[in-house]
Amino acid sequence: MTFLFNSDAKRGAIFAEAFAKALPDIAFTMDAASVNPNTVRYLITWTAPTDLSRYRNLEILFSIGAGVDQFDLASIPNHVKLVRMVEDGIARMMQEYVLLAALALHRNIPAYLEQQRQGVWSPIAQMQADRRRIGVLGLGTLAQAVLERLKPIGFPLAGWSRSPRDLEGVTCHHGEAGLEAMLATTDILVCLLPLTDETRGFLNADLLAKLPTGAALVHVGRGPQLDQAALIDALDRGRLGAAMIDVTDPEPLPAGHDLWSHPKIILTPHIASVTQPETAARAVIDNIKRHLAGEEIIGLVDRMRGY
Ligand code: GLV
Repeated sequence: MTFLFNSDAKRGAIFAEAFAKALPDIAFTMDAASVNPNTVRYLITWTAPTDLSRYRNLEILFSIGAGVDQFDLASIPNHVKLVRMVEDGIARMMQEYVLLAALALHRNIPAYLEQQRQGVWSPIAQMQADRRRIGVLGLGTLAQAVLERLKPIGFPLAGWSRSPRDLEGVTCHHGEAGLEAMLATTDILVCLLPLTDETRGFLNADLLAKLPTGAALVHVGRGPQLDQAALIDALDRGRLGAAMIDVTDPEPLPAGHDLWSHPKIILTPHIASVTQPETAARAVIDNIKRHLAGEEIIGLVDRMRGY
């Protein structure tokens, strides 16, 4: 029984050490070229290898990241379980980033950065946190972790998901009507949706127009969810106030793209949250143990939903 690690060797070494201690009966390898493909039961990777079918006895395909949109789900045999990365390190980093972004937008940092570039000293009237309403699109593991981290600041919190949720201290909305209601009462919109056919282009001109004038966007989902031209247009017209964007389409963002230099946008290169090998190895080991014991796997992807 073999676990094949298909990613960088530095992270692989950390995984190898954790596997040797926790699952000594499972052979751990990073060497796809010389492994006997029939022995591979578990594979962790960012994108599926093109020769996936050679692993005839594959049981679980682990994504090394939180998302699984990089996989062509149709090309993964039905009997193979596809698992998202759910681990504390990713959640902690996402909490930090969204807290940073929410506070930066709340305290008008994009405007002050522009003032600094222009040599302008001009205080802006400051709203209190208990009046700055934050709405999160998506209420999965990461979104819930983020909402917990935002709570102590005192922002009124809301969230939206496809199906109903109930979270303490968060006004939960769902469905089409719930989306409208949340957008109308959101000053800082945070996108933490997975990328699926339904969420591609979700942050379009129509949706942005439903936010109150001057609202801000934090985009930490996936680049193709946002109509970047619609965002720039809304910022230029003053409909929206500012945005902090960690994901773009394409990535990397090409030289000269408007997002690079827009005065109301803070841009980061998809660094909001990155899988941390120590905690990720623990999460994967835990999931393999659950699988072997016939228990529920954490982060198991529902092929119909696409996440
Ligand atoms: C990063 O975007 C990830 O999916 O982990």
